[in-house]
Amino acid sequence: MSDAKPAGSATLTVDGQTVELPILEGTVGPKVIDVRKLYSQTGMFTYDPSYTSTASCDSALTYIDGEVGILRHGGYSIEDLAGNSSFMEVCYLLLHHELPNQAELTDFENTITYHSMLHEQMRNLYGGFRRDAHPMAVMIGVVGAMSAFYHDSTDINDPQQRLIASHRLIAKMPTIAAWAYKYSVGQPFLYPRNDLSYAENFLRMTFGVPAEEYVANPAVVDAMDKIFILHADHEQNASTSTVRLAGSSGANPFACIAAGIATLWGPAHGGANSAVLEMLEQIGDKKNIPEFIKRAKDKDDPFRLMGFGHRVYKNYDPRAGVLKKSADDVLELLGAKDDPLLELAMELEKIALEDEYFVDRKLFPNVDFYSGIILKAIGFPTSMFTVLFALARSVGWIAQWKEMIEDPDQRIGRPRQLFLGATDREYVPVDKR
Ligand code: CMC
Repeated sequence: MSDAKPAGSATLTVDGQTVELPILEGTVGPKVIDVRKLYSQTGMFTYDPSYTSTASCDSALTYIDGEVGILRHGGYSIEDLAGNSSFMEVCYLLLHHELPNQAELTDFENTITYHSMLHEQMRNLYGGFRRDAHPMAVMIGVVGAMSAFYHDSTDINDPQQRLIASHRLIAKMPTIAAWAYKYSVGQPFLYPRNDLSYAENFLRMTFGVPAEEYVANPAVVDAMDKIFILHADHEQNASTSTVRLAGSSGANPFACIAAGIATLWGPAHGGANSAVLEMLEQIGDKKNIPEFIKRAKDKDDPFRLMGFGHRVYKNYDPRAGVLKKSADDVLELLGAKDDPLLELAMELEKIALEDEYFVDRKLFPNVDFYSGIILKAIGFPTSMFTVLFALARSVGWIAQWKEMIEDPDQRIGRPRQLFLGATDREYVPVDKR
């Protein structure tokens, strides 16, 4: 909290007792009421189970204004970064809080490139999974297992080891993800190549085979890199908060990231990108849209319009805006312009944006709405969509983890509760119950 500025105080009166709670101000965004001393002053907790009004930490990495639809990393808008930078630059920005100069970028790219191989024994891990295992399940296992292979970068108190762990994670994720795919289709694993860019290497390890040379379409490489940028970090979402909470106990970084991947998998979070495609396929035809909109509005029906709505964005998700624009170009380049799913998605979006239910609740398309269509056109199976999200988000997770560990005020995260269970009961022996 060292950089937060005091900005007055809030007065709270409880049970006739008045306490002054400090108000703190960041560089931009809502101020916060500092309730850290509330319990010692009043004996009460605050209650906010899904963190709707709670800032769980301070951070200088990513800023979101959900009302307007703004997303910035280190002060740079996502549109600017997606349009002009590269994923490697964004990784550097998140890890070091500044964009790299040319020499720093070259050095960083080399470092990432030279960490991309996996320990050879990690290959054996894959063989332990069923062929039909979901690649997210494989990824959780393999990333968690990195703590068993890279002991020399698990000392969280050593800044050099923290940096090496960050580099290893960013560098090895494409290899881990591509091998999860290769294992599922029964093809040989390809090793990374140092002469290829980050995205190109990943595409080759995913779609190439040892029997012939794989040359990636430059437009696809660009689209892949842009998708990675758009997913790089997103403030204190469920998976990032999981990584921070796991890390607050002093757990090693690879274990923490595995916990983040597990959290991302859910359909309310990163799992939504595959759920969108499954939903579009289920809708099948424009004529069926009204029926699905009706179901999405029905409180007795668990169906939700996947790729719509966001806890923070009450406006168009800026990442969806970038993806919608590039969906057209990428599909054109890939000769998939007439993909009926894109047409269906556009029609669904149009109808939902005009519908009173969605308008009243400010439900707009989110990043997952268009990403699946592009990923499908590139050739990824639906089961790999969330894996790609995890690959790209790894930098955000590790940067947030690093930021937390480097905060001198950092302590273990330990939420409290509003207890609603039985009070004091006497044990009754089993034969008397
Ligand atoms: N379809 C239909 N109704 C919805 C939807 C939806 N996709 N999203 C929210 N609502 C309704 C919800 O029923 C509620 O209505 P009411 O006030 O009448 O009870 C209202 O909108 C507010 O929703 P909420 O569930 O309280 O909002 P939340 O902030 O807890 O949930 C969300 C956010 C993203 C989980 C939710 O909008 C959702 O389930 N969306 C679909 C899944 C999705 O696309 N997730 C990806 C999020 S972006 C990428 C990422 O973060 O990983």
